[in-house]
Amino acid sequence: MSEWVHVAHLEELTRGRKKVVTVGSEEIALFLVGDRVYALHNVCLHKQRSLAKGTVFNGRVVCPGHQWAFDLETGWEEEKEECQPTYEVKVEGDSVHVIPQRRVLTEAPAVRD
Ligand code: FES
Repeated sequence: MSEWVHVAHLEELTRGRKKVVTVGSEEIALFLVGDRVYALHNVCLHKQRSLAKGTVFNGRVVCPGHQWAFDLETGWEEEKEECQPTYEVKVEGDSVHVIPQRRVLTEAPAVRD
């Protein structure tokens, strides 16, 4: 069972809105959107481009490689029906923590309201 790991201070994200951190063998891209932080595996499941170099748009991060668009919350790619791994995140005060254990959906998530 993995534990929460401190990976960044919130202020490190406020300027660029994203940051790559490494925990063990996990390369994790953090995205600050509004007041929420999302964490996805940084290496795109398609052809290994860096998602942190992508564009955040409409609740998704668009990979710079071939424009697959991964939901920030679930990692799901609607058109391709594939899932980029995500990580659980919590922010306590100025401290961003993740559980460095990949979460992967095997089917489309329920539609959000
Ligand atoms: S490498 Fe990410 S979409 Fe192709």
